[in-house]
Amino acid sequence: MKILNNCWYAAAWSNEVKAGELFPLRIADLPMVFFRRQNGEVAAIADYCPHRFAPLHRGKQVGDIIQCGYHGLEFDAHGKCVRNPHEAGKLPNASVPAYQVAERYSVIWVWIGDQQAEPALISDEFAFLEDPRCAHVRGRFHVNANYLLLLDNLNDISHALYVHGDALMTEDLYASLDPQLVVEGDVVKVTVEPKGITAPGLFRQGLPEGTTKTDLYDYVKTVLPANVIHDIAYTQPGETPYQKNGVSSRSAHFFTPETNTTAHYLFDNSRDFLLGDEEADARVLAALTRAFGEQDIPMIEAQQKVIGERELFDLRPVILVTDRGAVMARRNLAKRIKSQEAAADDLGPNGAP
Ligand code: FES
Ligand SMILES: [Fe+2]
Repeated sequence: MKILNNCWYAAAWSNEVKAGELFPLRIADLPMVFFRRQNGEVAAIADYCPHRFAPLHRGKQVGDIIQCGYHGLEFDAHGKCVRNPHEAGKLPNASVPAYQVAERYSVIWVWIGDQQAEPALISDEFAFLEDPRCAHVRGRFHVNANYLLLLDNLNDISHALYVHGDALMTEDLYASLDPQLVVEGDVVKVTVEPKGITAPGLFRQGLPEGTTKTDLYDYVKTVLPANVIHDIAYTQPGETPYQKNGVSSRSAHFFTPETNTTAHYLFDNSRDFLLGDEEADARVLAALTRAFGEQDIPMIEAQQKVIGERELFDLRPVILVTDRGAVMARRNLAKRIKSQEAAADDLGPNGAP
């Protein structure tokens, strides 16, 4: 599938890949199996056995080795076949691809591309995922839609009034939405700063009693390839954000292509209010699970069914002013993919310039 190569994709939350368990995932149409080596490091190799193509995740981990569950060939973390229980142990010249993996900020990242992975390309913007001063809730969805439809959704918060209602949007907030677009290099940012509006339900709970009107600072920032940081801060009218009488949250949304029409969606919400309150954690997680899982995703999957295998822009969609962020985020990514293709075309048949 056509994606940006030689960059990191979020594959899983750290706690999803457990010692001794094989964790299969298809990313960018590549079947992979993730596992923890005995030293705790995560590895990923192709999730098929080159003998009869049984998925390796149906086998088991033995030390740092994966043993195929069908006829027992064994593969190391580099994908090399290192044991054949048949033919008196004679090793076939067999291996499967191995993927470069990094674990940072509670995320397991996989490098898609044939160049050497560059750990520095994992944005340190995501350090907040491990900020001990915040309460974190997180999860994952599997979505039957192209990952870019998820990116569109988050870059256009006007959908909130129609899709989410009171938990995430109010009428007077919607009435004063005036999204501004800021492009800084590869980062696309949509900012909304309405004043004197009613905070939606999810945030009202954290504001001091008696708060009626608030100011909102809302920033949706898209980082390549299709990862979003969403900052939301409600303040007392006229106050600067992130003060003690306000509430704020920062969310990460990782949209990782599985196939052309399916995606992995990893989300985290880190908030600075109602800390150490497990009930609040459960409430926030339930509200977000409802918002994303029961409101956004069914709409996006229904959209994908209509679009089918076609490209969104081949259908000549109507563009509204509220689409500016989504269009710019897509355009930015498309530009990078195009220059990657042009660079590949410049290489000769054997990869020589
Ligand atoms: S399919 Fe894996 S050993 Fe036969
Ligand atoms: Fe939404």
